[in-house]
Amino acid sequence: ELEEKISKGNNQASTSASKLRSTRWFNERNNQAMSALYVDRYLNYGLTYEELMSDKPIVGIAQSGSDLAPCNRYHLETAKRVREGIVAAGGIAIEFPTHPIQESSRRPTATLDRNLSYLTLVEMLHAYPFDGVVLLTGCDKTTPAALMAAATMNIPAICLNVGPMLNGYMGKNLIGSGTILWKARELHAAGDIDDGQMIDMVTRGTPSAGHCNTMGTASTMNALAEALGMALPGSAAIPAPYRERLQIAYKTGTQIVEMVRADRKPSDIMTREAFENAIVVNTAIGGSTNAPIHLNAVAKHIGVRLDLNDWDNLGYGQPLLLNVQPAGEYLCEEYYRAGGLPAIIAELLAHKALPHPNAITCTGQGLAHCAKEEGQSWDRRVILPYDKPMKTNAGFLHLTGNLFDSAIMKTSVISEEFQHKFLSNQQDPNAFEGKVCVFDGPEDYNARLEDPATGIDGRTILVMRGVGPLGYPGAAEVVNMHAPARLLKQGVQAMPCIGDGRQSGTSGSPSILNASPEAAAGGNLAILKDGDRLRIDLNKRTVMLLLDDQELQKRRESLEQNGGFKVPESQTPWQDIFRREVGPLSEGMVFPSAVKFQRLAQK
Ligand code: FES
Ligand code: MG
Repeated sequence: ELEEKISKGNNQASTSASKLRSTRWFNERNNQAMSALYVDRYLNYGLTYEELMSDKPIVGIAQSGSDLAPCNRYHLETAKRVREGIVAAGGIAIEFPTHPIQESSRRPTATLDRNLSYLTLVEMLHAYPFDGVVLLTGCDKTTPAALMAAATMNIPAICLNVGPMLNGYMGKNLIGSGTILWKARELHAAGDIDDGQMIDMVTRGTPSAGHCNTMGTASTMNALAEALGMALPGSAAIPAPYRERLQIAYKTGTQIVEMVRADRKPSDIMTREAFENAIVVNTAIGGSTNAPIHLNAVAKHIGVRLDLNDWDNLGYGQPLLLNVQPAGEYLCEEYYRAGGLPAIIAELLAHKALPHPNAITCTGQGLAHCAKEEGQSWDRRVILPYDKPMKTNAGFLHLTGNLFDSAIMKTSVISEEFQHKFLSNQQDPNAFEGKVCVFDGPEDYNARLEDPATGIDGRTILVMRGVGPLGYPGAAEVVNMHAPARLLKQGVQAMPCIGDGRQSGTSGSPSILNASPEAAAGGNLAILKDGDRLRIDLNKRTVMLLLDDQELQKRRESLEQNGGFKVPESQTPWQDIFRREVGPLSEGMVFPSAVKFQRLAQK
């Protein structure tokens, strides 16, 4: 009977479109034993051989939610609706777990696992009979890991965000997840709140299922997945608990089956044009400083040229339209009610600020089309008009100089205090000079910040080094530092910070971040000493260490004689492998050895 089925299957496969990767998979023409082996375990939970051979697309549901990844945990529910959508559209759904990446609790840092999750997802998509995949995303690194894998594999793929949490409140005040932590940390350091009050304040920011309800890295990356065309229009901003979240999950399931039938692949969607759109959108929403790292990584894996100068050229100079924390005051419920991303795109379109309105999305239609259909509702307190924005000239500056080759600064979060203290008081309104206080990692910062011997005053530039991809495997989100308690008590909040690590997307600090090469890779941050002076010129996009060439040379020689910048030993095998393979933050922190594998499904 099995033989009969197999020969029937063979006939079906040869007469119908055996274009499907899965059909070819289950139909080893010259080796029926292998065909039997490949199908038997899919049958043992109730799938029939006829289903597998009936030219129904087999669609993976890449499940990133679990008890270990609470931000994405609600996907245990959304996946059921995705599955129903896939089946209703004539597909077969196969759900499988991805490596969890919980931003807020993974030690030493969740970013260490972005490339691990990417690698394992590529292996799964490559090694099993998928015709397409629904990527369940949410928490910061789950989204770029999924997009990177979709890029490398290049089978039809669509993202479904888990959605942000509901608003948090303290009394009538909105409390945003992540963002409140930075405020609470300052109040705690100044002695204004005790340990219990700190926990209470911070946990009020996380009142429901979902990812961060601020415009942190999670909201940013999911908005950018939608802007790239890799998620259904209007899907990214829907709060996790809203009914629309399960409805869009169902539609995502039906859409992926259509995409498989149309053979619409990531390389058709994630083009140079799509990335240019995403950069402009990132400025308009006040997106995270992690966005350039992740989007540049995705671009590398799909083979699109993209670098930090593109972010400065295309993204800086656009206005900030979205009034959501940390750059603004509201949270993602208001963002969704104001129209979500389609309303932002509609506003950009109306002012001819979206570079490529016709860039193809997962629906097969251009990005502009998505905005017109969905972008009708407005709340002008939350999504501001293009000509009366929250801020003009928002976006990132790409800085260079003799301290590093490359670093970025988010201008939409420059506060009035910062502007007044560091930028406006001088002859040149966009440049300032100051002496530095240098910390070797967060442990050193915590140990020494309050020590009066550091001599930190209200105009000191705080430097954090040894926290890049090599120094602190994965690159820690620790560059946004606060002033010592004695200064906080005097009301000093804005401190310029520079570092070779990252900062949380929920932070409103205008730090100079992601400096490459990092100290551990031999960058000049490694030779910086307390009391050195820096000149930061935002117009010229430079950060200069004010030392003559002779002194620079002397310090570099002595660094080399002492065996280079010291970093802690790797604690796990993965940390060790990561350090051997990884490239700098300026290049997306990808593994160059992985980038050469492209479009695997077509090979
Ligand atoms: Fe998961 Fe912010 S910690 S989204
Ligand atoms: Mg983060």
